[in-house]
Amino acid sequence: MKKIYIETYGCQMNVADSEIVLGLLDEGGHMMTDDVREADVILVNTCSIRENAEKRIYGRLGLFKEIKTARPEVVVGLLGCMAERLRDSLTKSKAEGVGQIVDIIVGPDEYRKVPALLEKAWHGERGVAVRLSRVETYDDLVPLRTSGVSAWISIMRGCDKFCSFCVVPFTRGRERSRPLDGIVSEVETLARRGYREVTLLGQNVNSWSDGVRDFADLIDAVAAVDPALRVRFTTSHPQDMSDRLIAAIARRENICKYVHLPVQSGSDRILSLMNRTYDSRHYRGLIRRLREAVPGVSLSTDIIVGFPTETADDHRMTVDLMREVGYDGAFMFKYSPRENTPAFAMGDDVPDDIKTERIGEIIELQNRTSLSRNLALVGRTMEVLVEGSGRKAAGQMQGRTDGNRIVIFDGPAELRGRTLPVRIVRANSATLFGEPAGSVDSTSPREIIHREPTGVSI
Ligand code: SAH
Ligand code: SF4
Ligand code: F3S
Repeated sequence: MKKIYIETYGCQMNVADSEIVLGLLDEGGHMMTDDVREADVILVNTCSIRENAEKRIYGRLGLFKEIKTARPEVVVGLLGCMAERLRDSLTKSKAEGVGQIVDIIVGPDEYRKVPALLEKAWHGERGVAVRLSRVETYDDLVPLRTSGVSAWISIMRGCDKFCSFCVVPFTRGRERSRPLDGIVSEVETLARRGYREVTLLGQNVNSWSDGVRDFADLIDAVAAVDPALRVRFTTSHPQDMSDRLIAAIARRENICKYVHLPVQSGSDRILSLMNRTYDSRHYRGLIRRLREAVPGVSLSTDIIVGFPTETADDHRMTVDLMREVGYDGAFMFKYSPRENTPAFAMGDDVPDDIKTERIGEIIELQNRTSLSRNLALVGRTMEVLVEGSGRKAAGQMQGRTDGNRIVIFDGPAELRGRTLPVRIVRANSATLFGEPAGSVDSTSPREIIHREPTGVSI
């Protein structure tokens, strides 16, 4: 029996993948540990999305090297997107740092091989498995989940969108959907085990399809499993977000009224260079239809500043769009050129100080917007699903509203996994603070819940 330690970077898909890998190793009777220094096996599930993501991982490899110098029998495995993207240079860099530290290199579609590769690595054999698959969805594998409250469920893998800046189509391969029956029966099992929330995951969940049914059918089937189970999904691509999906969100009480809809830029010229396949008019129309059908829906987005050739005018259009929509949250990034993507050939002509200035401007705008939207909730009572203890003080619990806002309140640890109404008394741009305002898991809590207010309409 070996002690396994795993560290996960990148998106939620990677979090879900790590659970799949741990599920496979659990079957082999191994033990998990949270302490890297006592591990026999160190796995790092990596991300390649921006240069910084890879830099962080190289930094961690330094620590793993130290551990391996002290205990040469420790096996180090590099998993995930970076393993896939850098497979050639990693395997060739044997003489250099990485080659010496890493024993196994496994891409996102080859996780079934991890137990066998580890077995060999214990006998000193290095292993590489980096083939991408057109069919692998890990449908039959049981992930090792530890939350007990909220579960990630991958419903598809890969991406066929080929946004010009993005490595994902290269690191994760072609898009493929997991069958509906497998997903629904996993959700049934989770609901029976007491889980209270599932998040359906994919790089572009809106294009899930089994040839007959689409994502609107799938989410409807998942929501029908248990009306008390919250259903979330991410990420939506604006091109594939259908009116049928919007209708499903509006119709099903337990589908959370929260949509993450990355726009990337407000400039049509930049959107076209990005190969995003929609323009700002289409995007604005979507937001309008969403807000009409789902009053009070929470919206968040991703933005890239400093894409090749982005001018001050292009940037202004992004700022204007953000101001108009009034997002509840935004993830904002400086453009990072990725080798072999189409945008790489466009150069990286926006200087870093301009990128810094532009991202600073939108972060400040978003903070102001988030603060005013959060302050508007003070005095309201909202349904909160309790995820665990608050991080700051003893006796504090933390949960989330339907609209994905974090709420901190005083309460006993037993509330974990329960739903209760919380009256909001204070807010900052990131967090709501409240006090319990009614019975736990009341049968019809939504009657006393005020929906979150609609933002600036566009
Ligand atoms: N599939 C999701 C995005 C996954 S990556 C979607 O299309 O919405 C998450 C975010 O990282 C992207 O939305 C984008 O904003 C950002 N990103 C991706 N590649 C990037 C790059 N090369 N430089 C900077 N940001 C990038
Ligand atoms: Fe990358 Fe675009 Fe696919 Fe998202 S939709 S993963 S940004 S290629
Ligand atoms: Fe990163 Fe791969 Fe996810 S590149 S963002 S871990 S799909």
